[in-house]
Amino acid sequence: MQWLSSVFKRRNASEQKEAPTPERTPYQMIGEAKGTRNLANRFYDIMETDDAVKELLQLHPMPLDRIREKFYEFLSGWLGGPSLFEEKYGHPRLRMRHMPFSIDEKMRDQWMYCMTRALELEVDNPLLREGLKESFYQLATHMINREVCSIREPKAP
Ligand code: HEM
Repeated sequence: MQWLSSVFKRRNASEQKEAPTPERTPYQMIGEAKGTRNLANRFYDIMETDDAVKELLQLHPMPLDRIREKFYEFLSGWLGGPSLFEEKYGHPRLRMRHMPFSIDEKMRDQWMYCMTRALELEVDNPLLREGLKESFYQLATHMINREVCSIREPKAP
């Protein structure tokens, strides 16, 4: 969990007791399998129902049952719990797995919109919530594989 140390080492000493450590992983702090599943399901509930992210929903093959399960399995390992995704599908190679989908900043922002709300509803500890949000943002930005083209006016002669 490389992301863990980079996000949480910047916190001051009084906040450390609130922060995850290798002995107390985000997976444990979030409520293990149940809390992880709740976060994954909440994320897709928001994606399915909020009009603000309809383009993101349209990008996803229906129904969402399979991706709900896959996302839960991925989060389990990523948060420091059992590596369920890796055991079933091999190394996550997330950027490569997202290549068939056109992902620009707008898609990243819609993805983060769902995740930010899911974290607000599912994670009580503010330090854990903010640390996860920052880490998700970095990962989601890494998924961007298309630039938004701006059509420029031709230059005047
Ligand atoms: C940046 C915006 C993102 C978009 C638009 C996006 C979109 C998608 C889409 C359309 C799929 C395919 C769903 C399916 O096969 O049913 C997918 C799969 C997946 N996404 Fe994302 N995603 C994004 C970011 C992320 C992030 C940040 C994570 C992890 C924290 C993530 C984790 C996954 C996983 C684990 C899968 C399953 C991969 C596979 O085995 O095919 N995604 N995503």
